[in-house]
Amino acid sequence: MRKERLDKVLANMGVGTRKEVKEMVKAGMVTVNGKVMKASDFKVDVEEDEIICGGKRIRYREFIYLQMNKPKDMVSSTDDPRESTVVELLDDFHRNFRPFPVGRLDKDTEGLLLITNDGKLAHDLLSPKKKVDKAYLARIEGRLTEEHVEEFGRGILLEDGYHTLPAELRIISSGPVSTAEITIQEGKYHQVKRMVGALGMRVSYLKRIRMGPLHLDQSLEPGQYRELTEEEIRLLLDR
Ligand code: URA
Repeated sequence: MRKERLDKVLANMGVGTRKEVKEMVKAGMVTVNGKVMKASDFKVDVEEDEIICGGKRIRYREFIYLQMNKPKDMVSSTDDPRESTVVELLDDFHRNFRPFPVGRLDKDTEGLLLITNDGKLAHDLLSPKKKVDKAYLARIEGRLTEEHVEEFGRGILLEDGYHTLPAELRIISSGPVSTAEITIQEGKYHQVKRMVGALGMRVSYLKRIRMGPLHLDQSLEPGQYRELTEEEIRLLLDR
């Protein structure tokens, strides 16, 4: 059983501001288990009670799960004294849940960002022990060869002495500027850029396209986001 104030539940579920929902409750627009409830501070059981407001059933949710196509020039945090954050792109309803990005993408990296308030899932996905795949599309200034593929497969010695886990480099095109799909299972600071840097080349564009079972929705423009489907949530939670 989980009890919450009626006005808090209604406001959190996007019915209106706390002030607006208090007025709706007072006006008799809200029923709890079939009975009109005029006290905003009434404690409802969010899992069991049937709350109807203006004829519409209000279903309480504790967690939200969003995927965003992160745009360039925004930082992946909830607040920052100087920079714009991805959370600023969320509408009030979603922001109300106090979600945060799961892991960080660099300011100039685009692509898949999972944003949720489910701390357990976030912890799970970020745990090094869980070895969750992160796949990126990279444009690389330099000519990629099969030797680089093999080096990635053995793990790369970074400039600070850390030897990465084996990673996958799949060459899409090779030339003076190459493109590749790179899959890593860690999340060290600037990891992809540093791995490519250790081969003597530079990443000039980076976009995350997958995290574990979650694929970037290609229909999302940079800066757009949507809620995950039930199937996507199930895939993430059941891993
Ligand atoms: N690796 C990087 O270098 N940058 C990112 O944003 C993500 C992975």
